[in-house]
Amino acid sequence: MKNFIENLPKAELHLHIEGSFEPELMFKIAQRNNIKIKYKSIEEIREAYQFDCLQDFLDIYYQGAGVLITEQDFYDLTYSYLEKCAVQNVRHTEIMFDPQTHTERGIAFKTVINGISKACTAAKKELGVSSLLIMSYLRHLSEADAFKTLEQSLPYKHLIAAVGLDSSEKGNPPSKFKKVFEASIKEGYIPLAHAGEEGSSEYIWEALDLLKIKRIDHGNNCLQDDKLIQEIIKRDIALTVCPLSNTALQVVHDLKNHPLKKMMDLGLKTTINSDDPAYFGGQVNQNYIEIQEALNLSKQDLYDLAKNSFQYSLLDDKTIQFYLDELEVYYTKNK
Ligand code: ADE
Ligand code: ZN
Repeated sequence: MKNFIENLPKAELHLHIEGSFEPELMFKIAQRNNIKIKYKSIEEIREAYQFDCLQDFLDIYYQGAGVLITEQDFYDLTYSYLEKCAVQNVRHTEIMFDPQTHTERGIAFKTVINGISKACTAAKKELGVSSLLIMSYLRHLSEADAFKTLEQSLPYKHLIAAVGLDSSEKGNPPSKFKKVFEASIKEGYIPLAHAGEEGSSEYIWEALDLLKIKRIDHGNNCLQDDKLIQEIIKRDIALTVCPLSNTALQVVHDLKNHPLKKMMDLGLKTTINSDDPAYFGGQVNQNYIEIQEALNLSKQDLYDLAKNSFQYSLLDDKTIQFYLDELEVYYTKNK
């Protein structure tokens, strides 16, 4: 099974580039920028990664991102993640980035987007990994702040496919961002959002009806509401599920009780993703491996998950078909 998963062609649809920041690279970049970090060693950093909830994690995640200063830093961070994609047979990835985490610290939007997008272009050519970018608004900040970010993004619109919504979910419902999502859609961005990770099913309804999202990041709590489940199926909207994130943030207490299989059996379209791999103990393949073991998923299940990852990507139909054909050949040979 491990071998089957490792060689399975797949896409990753839920990944925060700031969450891919491995301690080794964090130390290197901090040193070159003359920034002191509060940990003495890589081991000490890893030991600090014990979280009781989403907020617990976010506090550490924003601190880590604070050492990123130059375009080269953003380039190195992104390229390092894309190299990991290449060795895991991730053919395509949709990368979230949080501009406000950086602009709030005085880093120019241009520095962030140029570093990330240049790494994506190089990785397509050098590693054969395709990618697109999702600009995520931080929901703990105001809608006015999100509008400012939208404005800053416009000169770089050709480099960004979609907008997302992330950070502290509880107390920051999708309705808070209705107007900025409307404006983002008008600019041509595809709307996506985290919903139902810690927040209730009501937040997922809002994300669907008010933000008009085309994909739900996490979405675990849709299982609280049968009508919502039917609506998600009817609208043919996929969930980007992140198993190791869910256990690391205590959204699910034991992988053996993870609702992924239940979701699949109900007819929900699900995909497997790493969310913040540097913090949650595994890249996307590790997520596949551990959830397969915990839920005893079959090769057919794994194939369905990989198929969904291409089918519910934001790529054009022709490119999706290209990847699906490759997956089909692989599955036929290895099932
Ligand atoms: N930002 C990075 N990871 C996140 C997550 N799992 N939920 C919300 N915001 C995030
Ligand atoms: Zn996320």
